[in-house]
Amino acid sequence: MDAVTRETLFNRVRSWTLEAGAFIRNKINDPLTIKTKSNPKDLVTEMDRKVEFFFAAKIKRYYPEHRLLSEEGYGDTLTDSSGTVWIIDPIDGTMNFVHQKQNFAISIGVYEHGVGEIGFIYDVMNNNLFSAMRGNGAFKNARKLSPLDSGKKLHESILCLNHYWLSENRLVDEKVMQQLIKDVRGTRTYGSAALEFAYVAEGAADAYITMRLEPWDIAAGRIILGEVGGKLTDIHGETTEMLDRTSIVACNPSIQANLLEYLSKAKK
Ligand code: IPD
Ligand code: CA
Ligand code: CA
Repeated sequence: MDAVTRETLFNRVRSWTLEAGAFIRNKINDPLTIKTKSNPKDLVTEMDRKVEFFFAAKIKRYYPEHRLLSEEGYGDTLTDSSGTVWIIDPIDGTMNFVHQKQNFAISIGVYEHGVGEIGFIYDVMNNNLFSAMRGNGAFKNARKLSPLDSGKKLHESILCLNHYWLSENRLVDEKVMQQLIKDVRGTRTYGSAALEFAYVAEGAADAYITMRLEPWDIAAGRIILGEVGGKLTDIHGETTEMLDRTSIVACNPSIQANLLEYLSKAKK
């Protein structure tokens, strides 16, 4: 993709994302039809589907040769990462959307042959738009984000994680994780993977650890985090690819080695 095409695409995604966010805000108090998907905690509403349809229709009209990987059924079935691929989570944090009417995000990543080019995470209710274009830095609204603090220590860090993974018989040894929780300054659970990536990118949190995410949870975060020097691997310290369904350790580079050491002891 040449620079002009990329810039045009960036501006279009930006304006469509803001439009979709305004639509959600306008309807935030309307009654919702809530359905469950894979399990009783996996929620979907008509708003998730409407927002995804909005983007799918735009992509089809403006970029018919591009492919779409998305959560709610309007995308393509992808078995490889060739060409230009949009990866969309129309509402990341649906449980928050339903229960809290806040703390959810629209997450969009655009990849070319598996390389992240453009990422947007839109905290809809706070009207905060995180964005990045590969090689041009990351932004929160108009403010360029600084490279992540290279002197950060684990004991001064805030860790985002979901307590679900620490409950009995989950994927990690809870004793090791309890020690990690004691050793960091604090922990937070926000309930939106996309927002947790954005918080690590802006330095509001220092790491986000989770045991299983889908490509649309990760796509935009990977690009935005990469632009501020953040590190992203699975819990084994391995690189993850665009289509992977994987555990994630997204963090400030200075605490990565230390965190992965804890996790290597915590693996079951
Ligand atoms: C979920 C949220 C949540 C994370 C889950 C995701 P959804 O996405 O990001 O924070 O823990 O793994 O599935 O279902 O609200 O789009
Ligand atoms: Ca999600
Ligand atoms: Ca979602």
